[in-house]
Amino acid sequence: MKLHKSLLSVLAFSMVVNLSAQTNEMVIQTKKLGAEIQPTMYGLFFEDINYGADGGLYAELVKNRSFEFPQNLMGWKTFGKVTLHDDGPFERNPHYVRLASPGHAHKRTGIENEGYFGIGVKQGEDYRFSVWARLPESGAASKIRVELVKTNSNGEHHAFAAQDLVIDSEEWKKYQVILKPNMTEAKSVLRIFLDSQVAVDLEHVSLFPVDTWKGHENGLRKDLAQALADIKPGVFRFPGGCIVEGTDLETRYDWKKSVGPVENRPLNENRWHYTFPHRFYPDYFQSYGLGFYEFFLLSEEIGAEPLPVVSCGLACQFQNEDMHAHVPVGELNNYVQDALDLIEFANGDVNTKWGKLRADMGHPAPFNLKFIGIGNEQWGPEYPERLEPFVKAIRKAYPDIQIIGSSGPNSEGEQFDYLWPEMKRLKVDLVDEHFYRPESWFLSQGARYDNYDRKGPKVFAGEYACHGRGKKWNHFNAALLEAAFMTGLERNADIVHMATYAPLFAHVEGWQWRPDMIWFDNLNCVRTVSYYVQQLFAHNKGSNVLSLSMNKKPVTGAEGQNGLFASAAWENSDNTIIVKVVNTSDKSQPVAFKFEGLKKNDVLSGGKCIKLRSQDLDKDNTIEQPNAIIPQETVITIDGHYLNTELEPHTFAVYKFTKNSR
Ligand code: AHR
Repeated sequence: MKLHKSLLSVLAFSMVVNLSAQTNEMVIQTKKLGAEIQPTMYGLFFEDINYGADGGLYAELVKNRSFEFPQNLMGWKTFGKVTLHDDGPFERNPHYVRLASPGHAHKRTGIENEGYFGIGVKQGEDYRFSVWARLPESGAASKIRVELVKTNSNGEHHAFAAQDLVIDSEEWKKYQVILKPNMTEAKSVLRIFLDSQVAVDLEHVSLFPVDTWKGHENGLRKDLAQALADIKPGVFRFPGGCIVEGTDLETRYDWKKSVGPVENRPLNENRWHYTFPHRFYPDYFQSYGLGFYEFFLLSEEIGAEPLPVVSCGLACQFQNEDMHAHVPVGELNNYVQDALDLIEFANGDVNTKWGKLRADMGHPAPFNLKFIGIGNEQWGPEYPERLEPFVKAIRKAYPDIQIIGSSGPNSEGEQFDYLWPEMKRLKVDLVDEHFYRPESWFLSQGARYDNYDRKGPKVFAGEYACHGRGKKWNHFNAALLEAAFMTGLERNADIVHMATYAPLFAHVEGWQWRPDMIWFDNLNCVRTVSYYVQQLFAHNKGSNVLSLSMNKKPVTGAEGQNGLFASAAWENSDNTIIVKVVNTSDKSQPVAFKFEGLKKNDVLSGGKCIKLRSQDLDKDNTIEQPNAIIPQETVITIDGHYLNTELEPHTFAVYKFTKNSR
């Protein structure tokens, strides 16, 4: 049978159209290296929200260890003859308790601490109990008994770790003893009995696991710090967030109060204890035990550039419309000086005032600080007019330090449009953008940075997460859309220099905000799918952008691109080509990669593909099932310089090939 010629050509044409519609051929130009991808590109943002520091990363197990909460005995039970005093050895934490004999051999005096949602300890591990103590009167020594106690379902108490401690001096001294639990328990209490007729004074009652991150005594929870290190973050922003600003200026994060001997760091109110009335945590305070020294040290130990943020003299603007709540522009000197002193604390010679303090705390070498953020989510003219004196002073004293300004709490809109030009006028180095947005926003922002002004400040996507509409909690689809959005960050690495998901941590029993990247209880931690998205980008970052296009256009999820997002990079250290593709659609997509610009004798070998996928879009990893959705790696081979493959629905995939010459 003979087909008419014009019918044949129509058939041929429609086959071509169908094929090109189906194959999603992505062309990767390998010859010309694009922008350098900054080492800081994928990082971490830490804030003490959701019990992220006290009760979380900071490994202290005793709550209100210095009896300085406004209700001095909050977190403690007392029994027998216990009195509170306020002339203790630490000027900024003057309170302590006195345990006196109840006057009868069968009676008891003591105190009991509830910890943070209980005290979690593990069988076979060592826990360092320490206390500052003295005898209030001269004479014989006294003795206390220290126990970890579990209460069973019948209400019976069982001490499963116990030690005696003799207090033998009228002078305040630090005593310590190791507790060795013979069982694992998530919700024990710490009980301290007076085990003598002689009274004792107790202050700064503390219990730490001996096995902290890197073994530091005033240390961090090892599993949580390890999760941070395992990201291989390029930058570490701290200490917040709104925490930086405070509900009022008095409660802003004051870095100077967070350094020096830990016993004398004063208590600060944590604004997240009352921010959301439906998630009210009246016992949420900041001990400052995890202070700026510890933040700098952690940054160094996880290989990230430290990025401290300081108050610009504006208390939280969400909570303070009255301008009297803020520091008048002409009176910012102390705040500006705090920023300068912070740079000296991090980088100064050991003979400078603040450099010496750093050295005295154990780190004579500088921390090599390169960035500083001034203000968090600030807005309105009140922000630039306060930022200006900081910029002038820092530029003058430390011209090499890069300054980060804010574009306000929103990803677009009036405040954002006002602040960006202001940040350009003030010539800050980077502008911090925040976006907690729904699915539709993430799907529409693949090309967000494509048309940004290349001559002004760089972008720091300092806080972002997909907050699903009606699903404001961790789930696979939210993480997938974050991955899709991140391909746009990567394609624009010439202007986007840093990005940090937020918030980082949440205690399953004490959260105020979700989704979050890492969840934990008193014994376990779980890495969410969002965590693995961040990790896949950070581990497969590449040193330079490669141009990737489909029908000559970047793959941004735009119409006609079948819900696909993609970016490509080159890694100089090991000659690797990295292609990241996100299929946000509910259909399997045939995808082809055409690597252009390779020589005939260039071979692509060692191919692998790492995929993150789930059929259940609402699912995420949990404490019970921490590995429900984790990246899966397979070996792939490529035919010459062309790969034909298939990408399942709702999948984030990273393809890698090593380039060698035959
Ligand atoms: O990440 C939680 C909060 O979100 C931060 O404290 C603040 O900067 C933003 O509003």
